Amino acid sequence: MEAAAAIGMLENTATAADLGAPHLGRLRDAQELLGRDLARIEADLLVATADGAAPATDAARHLLTAGGKRIRPLCVLLAAHAFGNVDDEARTLASVAEMVHLATLLHDDVVDDSAERRGQVVARIVYGNAVSVLAGDSLLVHALERTSGVGRPATLRELFATLRQLVDGEVVQLRGRTKLDPSYETYRTILEGKTASLFRWALRAGARASSATEAQIAAVGTFGEHLGIAFQLVDDALDYTGEAIGKDLHADLREGKMTLPLILAAQKNPSLLDTLEKARAGDTHAMATLREAGKTTAIEVRDRARAETKAACDALDAVADSPAKRLLVAVAVELTARLG
Ligand code: IPE
Ligand code: IPE
Ligand code: MG
Ligand code: MG
Repeated sequence: MEAAAAIGMLENTATAADLGAPHLGRLRDAQELLGRDLARIEADLLVATADGAAPATDAARHLLTAGGKRIRPLCVLLAAHAFGNVDDEARTLASVAEMVHLATLLHDDVVDDSAERRGQVVARIVYGNAVSVLAGDSLLVHALERTSGVGRPATLRELFATLRQLVDGEVVQLRGRTKLDPSYETYRTILEGKTASLFRWALRAGARASSATEAQIAAVGTFGEHLGIAFQLVDDALDYTGEAIGKDLHADLREGKMTLPLILAAQKNPSLLDTLEKARAGDTHAMATLREAGKTTAIEVRDRARAETKAACDALDAVADSPAKRLLVAVAVELTARLG
């Protein structure tokens, strides 16, 4: 599909400002500030998801058009905006950040056997697991091609390292399916790999596109890393606390994942580890016990997410004040406030 046709299609469907969750007001402010850039990124994402062989293209389009918060592209754009103008490089890399994210979601829903994502039935159920995996692969190729075309060796090199971390994070998490590991260190390693690495890349790539100094790139990268950890902590808590976020509730528990709500509960009551083994063997009573146990630590998880958010914002102390910097802080705080 041509970019002009994609932009025309966008005019008839959602505007960029409609893409965020309605209760995330500051996120919406950021989307408004960068509305024209985000619209062009949406158009590029429509082009990328149409470029390839059906039905993989259909599966990618299915996920793209279901919505999503578009936080990672926003991070690229805000980082670029904090140090200069948003140009073609920043827009390309913003679209790459969402492409990588879409690819990981297409893969993750197969790995996690999920049923619902972005408020609709997942691509793997509509098109099959194999198509979902290949659709993710196709998007990764588009992401690498585009990043290579930008001509910033450091940004491409960091994308390769990020993809390595993403995969390794998911693999370390998988180990937990055969051998229960209730350690916080392992959990943290998983979060750094599967979630924080892409946030870090997004912020660094955006800053570099605006020719920020190495110190400035490092500062926003640290922000991104802590934001990513906070973001996944919130996601893991929401899996227990039952908020409607458009994906299956208790999916982590069903998959036997030791996320922080359960890790903290098991530290207080080690017998929950036996309960988890029983739940994995299909004991529904054990499952119900764990759902309740995970809820009891919600406040502690929230406090850790707040601490990570604070560490993220502290890293921005080294960056001069600007509307984009203030929005980065506001969006980070708001994302964590989803836990109350
Ligand atoms: C979901 O990410 C995967 C996690 C890292 C928790 P998002 O919460 O950003 O998903 P979308 O893009 O808004 O659907
Ligand atoms: C995040 O993990 C997935 C990736 C970063 C690929 P989750 O498995 O918790 O994500 P959701 O909950 O399915 O969105
Ligand atoms: Mg998942
Ligand atoms: Mg989750």
